[in-house]
Amino acid sequence: MYPPLGPNLRARVLARMHAHPAADTTVELPEWYFRHWHFGPGGYLTGVGIRWYDWVVRRAYYQLHEGGAHAAVLNALGEAGCRKVVEVGCGSGRLLRSLVASRQFDAVTGLEISPLLVDRARRAAPGVSVRQSDGTLDAVAEAEADAVVMAHVVGHVPPAVAGTLLAQALRLAGDRGRVALVEHAWHPLDLGRARIRRDERFHAGMQRLIVLSN
Ligand SMILES: C[S@@+](CC[C@H](N)C(=O)[O-])C[C@H]1O[C@@H](n2cnc3c(N)ncnc32)[C@H](O)[C@@H]1O
Repeated sequence: MYPPLGPNLRARVLARMHAHPAADTTVELPEWYFRHWHFGPGGYLTGVGIRWYDWVVRRAYYQLHEGGAHAAVLNALGEAGCRKVVEVGCGSGRLLRSLVASRQFDAVTGLEISPLLVDRARRAAPGVSVRQSDGTLDAVAEAEADAVVMAHVVGHVPPAVAGTLLAQALRLAGDRGRVALVEHAWHPLDLGRARIRRDERFHAGMQRLIVLSN
C-alpha cells in the first residue's frame, strides 16, 4: 500500500480540492484516498502527483500500447451488445475518448474521485458527462449503465473498496450487461461469484482483460 499523506499535506490538499472549480462540494473524498499513489507526491490530489501518474507511471503500465487495451475493451463490450458504459476511475480521460470515438455507445459516463482529473477528463472527452465520485457507485442510477469499465482501478484500491466496487458494478450491469477490468496480470483479484466471460493476457502477458457478468 502507498504511504498516507501526512496531516498537514492532507489538510492543504483537501482545502484546495474543495475550492477546485471541478469539485462537487456535495461529494466527500474517501479517507483511503489520501495516499501518495504510485509514490507520486500528493497522489492524485496534486498537479505534480497526477503528472507523475499520467506521464510516467501510466506509460509504463501500458508499455506505450494503451490503444491495444482500449481496443480489447471495445471489442468485448461490442460483442456483448452493451450500449451504456460507465468508466470508473477514468483518470485523465483517454479511454473515455476512445469509448466515444468508437460510436458504439448511446451513453458514456466517467467517474473520478480527484477533481483535478475530473477536469482533465472533461477536457479530453468534451461532451462526456464526467462526475466526481465518492469512491462508490452509489450515485449511479441503474438506467445509466449496462457496462462498467475499470482500468487499473480495482487492483489498486484497498480490498474492501475493490469488493464493494465490483459488487456495485455487477449490480449496475444487470442480467445482460458486462463489467470489464483491465489489470496487471500479477494483481490478485477476488472476483467473488461473478461469471468470467473473458480472461485474456496481452502486452507480453503483463496485462489482463477480464470481462465479467452476473
Ligand atoms: C491507476 S489510475 C488509472 C487511471 C486510468 N483508468 C488509466 O488506466 O490510466 C486509478 C484512477 O482511478 C481513480 N479511482 C480510484 N478509485 C476510484 C473509485 N473508487 N472511484 C472512482 N475513481 C477511482 C483514481 O483517482 C485514479 O485516477
